[in-house]
Amino acid sequence: MRHALAVMRIALLHSVCFDVFFVSVRLEFGVIIENSVAHRLEQTVSRLESAIRRLQAQKACLDWAAAEISTQPGPVLELGLGNGRTYDHLRDRMAEREIFVFEREIAAHPDCVPDERHLLLGDIRSVIADASIVIGAQAVLAHCDIGNGYKCETAELAAFVGPALAPLLAPGALVVSGQALIVPGCFEVPLPDGVAPDRYYIYRMG
Ligand SMILES: C[S@@+](CC[C@H](N)C(=O)[O-])C[C@H]1O[C@@H](n2cnc3c(N)ncnc32)[C@H](O)[C@@H]1O
Repeated sequence: MRHALAVMRIALLHSVCFDVFFVSVRLEFGVIIENSVAHRLEQTVSRLESAIRRLQAQKACLDWAAAEISTQPGPVLELGLGNGRTYDHLRDRMAEREIFVFEREIAAHPDCVPDERHLLLGDIRSVIADASIVIGAQAVLAHCDIGNGYKCETAELAAFVGPALAPLLAPGALVVSGQALIVPGCFEVPLPDGVAPDRYYIYRMG
């Protein structure tokens, strides 16, 4: 009888151990699956893909804007030369236009640096006030790409640039921007097909 009880106790113990074992395996497995799903979700848009989409949006918006203002005379403004990629694209698409570039520090390849007359060198916050004297006419297109990767700093600069840019724009001018702007007198216009909302912004001066 004693022996039978001992056997039952051992059997019970084993069954509890098995349960604990299976529960812990299931939990462990669940965590692994959860982690792998989370990892896959995180990877849905990699930084590379995000950069590619941004550049595609930038090009689509600039091409759309260049076609839109093609019959309107006037210079173009490039705010933020960076590597000179978009400057190069603009001058390629609008070879007949004067393009004035705002940049605080030249880092572009020498091939993509405008001549002195078309370069407004220095912090845009101090340079933009007198820019109309240098430019000499109201612009029909401004491309604003002044982000530095830090959201707060970029938003602060964009909040300054929007109102400061307004007097430089001709009626009907377009502002294509990587940052949301408030430009007095301008209203937001729909993005070209294929450009996701908030990836780029386009405004038109009324
Ligand atoms: C994202 S990059 C522009 C990239 C450029 N569109 C291209 O395609 O290569 C932003 C540029 O804005 C410039 N920038 C940022 N803050 C500025 C400021 N306060 N005044 C003048 N330039 C500024 C930076 O020096 C940088 O070159």
